[in-house]
Amino acid sequence: MHPEIDRIIVTAEQLAQRNAELGRQITADYAGKPLTVVSILRGSIIFVADLIRHIELDLELDFIGAASYGDDTETSGHVDIRKHLDGKVHDRHVLLVDDILDTGYTIKTVCELIRISHPLSLKTAVAFDKPARRKVALEADYVGFTIDPVFIVGYGLDLAQKYRNLPYIGVPKKEVLDRTFGTRP
Ligand code: IMP
Ligand code: MG
Repeated sequence: MHPEIDRIIVTAEQLAQRNAELGRQITADYAGKPLTVVSILRGSIIFVADLIRHIELDLELDFIGAASYGDDTETSGHVDIRKHLDGKVHDRHVLLVDDILDTGYTIKTVCELIRISHPLSLKTAVAFDKPARRKVALEADYVGFTIDPVFIVGYGLDLAQKYRNLPYIGVPKKEVLDRTFGTRP
């Protein structure tokens, strides 16, 4: 385990098993339909790479770049779009994939952007869901793991751009969080 990680809450094996289940479900739900999987950069790239290898359908892969301002545990609600879709989706079903559904601002903003292109349908898949932190009324259609409202890293998720490459989901040690975000009362 990485020395700055306090504990692992989802193992690489659990991630792999859940991705296979989600892939089977998505394969059944989109059979015979033109599917474009849209991954939100950067956090979702590891999840989307694993997930699409369990979707046994022809699909297109596209990316949208989105970021909330600042390297902080709290999002401001302002989501900055840094890259738009490359392909057209007006005649395709879109499955939007993100790493984590937290306040919901990111997915809400990106969904509004994609709806401008009038896809045949729009659904969402997230590796992790923190329902206790939601600020907007929004649920994902496919959820890997529902977790407590703790700050997690690994499997694409970062703390100030670090730890994305950890193969498991961990909680950073308290001193690491304090060093990055400052001590909180
Ligand atoms: P939302 O807009 O608040 O739903 O947050 C979505 C984005 O915030 C994610 O795509 C992540 O980049 C980031 N985020 C939210 N919670 C965590 C976490 O626990 N660890 C790392 N990043 C997080
Ligand atoms: Mg992030």
